[in-house]
Amino acid sequence: NGKKKLLNKHFLVTAGPTHEKIDPVRFIGNYSSGKMGFALAEELAEQGAKVTLVSGPVSLKCYHPNIKRVDVVSAEEMKQAALDVFSEVDGAVMCAAVADYRPKYPADQKIKRTAADMTIELEANDDIAACLGKLKTENQLLVGFALETQDEKSNALDKMKRKNLDFIVLNSLQDKGAGFGVDTNKITILTKDNKAVDFQLKMKTEVARDIVAQITASL
Ligand code: C5P
Repeated sequence: NGKKKLLNKHFLVTAGPTHEKIDPVRFIGNYSSGKMGFALAEELAEQGAKVTLVSGPVSLKCYHPNIKRVDVVSAEEMKQAALDVFSEVDGAVMCAAVADYRPKYPADQKIKRTAADMTIELEANDDIAACLGKLKTENQLLVGFALETQDEKSNALDKMKRKNLDFIVLNSLQDKGAGFGVDTNKITILTKDNKAVDFQLKMKTEVARDIVAQITASL
């Protein structure tokens, strides 16, 4: 359990939600707090790695000198920031809860209320993890997350294959105290060589340590 196993390594971590603009004062978003991604960035940095943390809008701070934080708002900006650094990194951990869709025609002015129903047309965002999965070289590690409400393991395995991930972290939604917003999480790590390891409910800082141990073992 020696420290600084990741000296001279560089990781990309994506964290938090993305906000997709409807008009100047409104957006589509989700409840991701960024806590899991920030804990991972912190743990990677603590073990000696240089970290580029690409974060959507969150109310978290990070202080570690090894972490370079890049703040973004939308999925499109997050993808660009991830692509900008990906060729330089030894691995990427895709922890962000990226919006699947964005308003197709964001309004320049605040949309006025009327009595009528309204519809917002959406278009699909690119899958950032899958983009990086296509670019990935043999020397790069790609880690994703999955949050499933049914057929958890088989859906997570499909996702790992489809996105060309080396391993995937399955967040349990069965347990209270796991997932969005809270300080704790309960995970299963599924690897591409078909191993599954279940972990106990613990603090996200501790969960980050388990995930980083898997990263270190996989490098
Ligand atoms: O397909 P799904 O959204 O469930 O996959 C989750 C995984 O893919 C997470 O690692 C997430 O960060 C990543 N992802 C992404 N870009 C998207 C959607 C998901 O990087 N547009």
